[in-house]
Amino acid sequence: MDIINEMYVKKIKELKEEKNAIILAHNYQRPEIQDIADFVGDSLGLSIEAGKTKADVIVFCGVDFMAETAKIINPKKMVLIPEKALCPMAMMLSPEQIREVAVKHQSVPVVLYVNTHASCKALADYACTSANAVKVVDSIKSDTVIFGPDANLAEYARRKTKKNIIPIPEYGMCPVHHQISTSDVNRAKNLHENAIIVVHPETRPEIWELADYVGSTEQMIKYCKNSPGKEFIIGTENGILYRMKKEMPEKEFYPASDTAICTNMKMTTLESVFNSLKYNKFEINLDEEVMNNARKGIERMLEMV
Ligand code: 13P
Ligand code: SF4
Repeated sequence: MDIINEMYVKKIKELKEEKNAIILAHNYQRPEIQDIADFVGDSLGLSIEAGKTKADVIVFCGVDFMAETAKIINPKKMVLIPEKALCPMAMMLSPEQIREVAVKHQSVPVVLYVNTHASCKALADYACTSANAVKVVDSIKSDTVIFGPDANLAEYARRKTKKNIIPIPEYGMCPVHHQISTSDVNRAKNLHENAIIVVHPETRPEIWELADYVGSTEQMIKYCKNSPGKEFIIGTENGILYRMKKEMPEKEFYPASDTAICTNMKMTTLESVFNSLKYNKFEINLDEEVMNNARKGIERMLEMV
């Protein structure tokens, strides 16, 4: 680590102490951000951690919908996001689209992936993450549910639960996961014949069909830890490989695609975390009514954990 970054690490530690702050980081964050975080995890783990913390300030190293979720769970706390990092998938769904579909399918429950803005979550009956989408959909009495915005995850939940799923929007997806192709996976498998294929449900259905395991980022890490396998092909955003190599140095990890990189997740740097703590940049502020409505679906999901 260079001298400037060393200085930022030192200052971040001091400011954290001074402000009674906690740093939460998603598994796709840069290595140096994962290293300074108090907790690194998937969307579900980060939401649980945000709900448990005694800290006064939460610095959320991830993208906007994650920091918003932390704020909805902790409306009284200061939640900061070091960079205005957006999620392209979350931007594919608006409250108007949800209302339009909900009017057409009255009394059909709305399940929204946590990768949505607070204004959308306020219209949801249930929230879910990739770790529990199947469990949440399965728990609902209705045999049909409206699900958005990831059409791949919607299809995954449909196959696992046999429920009718109405995806909103029809073709919502994560561009980072959706671009991983079967030829990428086959190429990696040809290079590493003994490797086990572990992928995220945001990838296309034909990718799950090639995989040995499908799960959220945290579930992928857990699967690799528990597996007797020594080599793994990883089908998700490549930031996760840092944590995998760090926690399982005796195993080998290969990305399914070298281009599976979420530029939004990579915006956060040590400098921006320092500025965030020093100048309270950028504070998440949400409308109270929106937060109250959005909390119901999140709480229902968390109750199932
Ligand atoms: P999880 O870490 O919850 O699996 O989410 C993946 C993702 O794409 C988050 O943006
Ligand atoms: Fe959004 Fe995909 Fe980036 Fe996750 S990886 S933040 S779903 S664009």
